[in-house]
Amino acid sequence: MLRRRDVLIGGAAFAGSGAAGFLSVGRKAQAREVLAQPIAHGVESLALDLAERPTALPCFNGKTLPLWTFQAGTTFPIVRVKLGEQLDTVFKNDLPREGEVASIHWHGLRIPNTQDGVPYLTQQPIAPGGKGHYSFVPPDTGSFFFHTHCNSTEHFGRGLIGALIVEGDEIEAPDAEYVLLMKDWRIGSDGKFLPFSTDEGAAKGGTPGTIRSVNGATSPVITVPSSANIRIRFYNLDPMRISEIGFEDAEAAIIAVDGNGLPPMTFESWRMGTAMRVDILLRTAAPGKSVKLYDYFSAQPFVLAEFKSEGRPKRTGGFDPVPLKVMPFPKLDEANAQIIPFEFSATPTGAAIAALGAGPGIQLGPLCLAKRTFWAINKQAWPGHDHQNLGPPLATLKSGQSYIFELDNTTPRSHPIHIHGHTFEVLNSSKRRLPRFRCDTVLLIPNERIQVGLVAGLPGKWMFHCHILEHQEAGMMGYIEVV
Ligand code: C2O
Ligand code: CU
Repeated sequence: MLRRRDVLIGGAAFAGSGAAGFLSVGRKAQAREVLAQPIAHGVESLALDLAERPTALPCFNGKTLPLWTFQAGTTFPIVRVKLGEQLDTVFKNDLPREGEVASIHWHGLRIPNTQDGVPYLTQQPIAPGGKGHYSFVPPDTGSFFFHTHCNSTEHFGRGLIGALIVEGDEIEAPDAEYVLLMKDWRIGSDGKFLPFSTDEGAAKGGTPGTIRSVNGATSPVITVPSSANIRIRFYNLDPMRISEIGFEDAEAAIIAVDGNGLPPMTFESWRMGTAMRVDILLRTAAPGKSVKLYDYFSAQPFVLAEFKSEGRPKRTGGFDPVPLKVMPFPKLDEANAQIIPFEFSATPTGAAIAALGAGPGIQLGPLCLAKRTFWAINKQAWPGHDHQNLGPPLATLKSGQSYIFELDNTTPRSHPIHIHGHTFEVLNSSKRRLPRFRCDTVLLIPNERIQVGLVAGLPGKWMFHCHILEHQEAGMMGYIEVV
């Protein structure tokens, strides 16, 4: 029954997904990509109010915890817009702690730099009692999310995350759709939150949670139509967890990675670091039967969710997943691309520490500045100790030009590396056979080197960091400047 277990148990040492997972399936005609077009215009309004809201999630076993959330009445808001629509957001910072500044980052969206929500780099963050505003037209379809960008380990730890879905990529509508948000919670035996970060965790793989959840429940049973094609938008929104997800005995295909459609790939399993998303098309079981989604990367395969079929069968034919529409991304000029090396390492002693400071008209506050550094990019740890002047970018790129980033992980840990305002095209790995796909967060496994292509996008200062939030806050963070 647990056929992936043999290779994945104690998975940290395992080099990666087998090539079998990367065979594309389905229509032969999929060479012809269908481009997504705007499907609506107009303006959607979104009101967010960041506040503490005591909540008793099913996974808390009767306990109530002081969550921080974006909206009253829902733990994780799921915001939907249609491709072509503008999203206007007003947010209020009602967080219950003095100096707990906030801004909202729209993870994975290629929007103007001024809307990117990075404190001090792109905007002055909003103090408690204050209001902020964002306005943009999401340029791409897909499964995205939003979060604050300061003291993030605690903010994620308290549940301050929301999904943003941009619709308009379906050629054939699935029979149903489900959004699954995975995250752990750090709760002590007294039923209270444990410290969200520890030096021990920050210096290793991150400080793990004690309770697992998907949509606030541990191993939820989700009722689905029988023998149907359902779309699952699966998000890893834990502050640190690496997972390798897969079904036991089910026909399924990966149809998008980080929101980017790709030729459907047989879904054996997929390794995901924090912030990574995958869209799956699953053929559900016969009436009364169920299919389980596992995390094979934990010590024992763990049931993330169970999809239980109800009602008359929807489909009879074979499983033939239809690809999603894709966005017209600028084409990478691989032959003429400049190669830029990035080394992800532990902080070398005596290394030059980049000096971070505020941009013009922006005052720097103390909250976003970690007091410790364990990690570095190209031997620079950021934030550093002296914050008077803006440190130099890790690289300066020309908008519209092609680059190959050579991402070299010289540590024994995995690092999900994220770039703001862009998507990477994964080209090759020194350790695994990877398919070609687009993503905004690429997982580097221990001592792996991956080349990704990138066409420099909109001008501005774009954050580039590890999305294990304690690694980010302990130095594995920098920015790329596009001019
Ligand atoms: Cu979701 Cu700077 O990241
Ligand atoms: Cu990391």
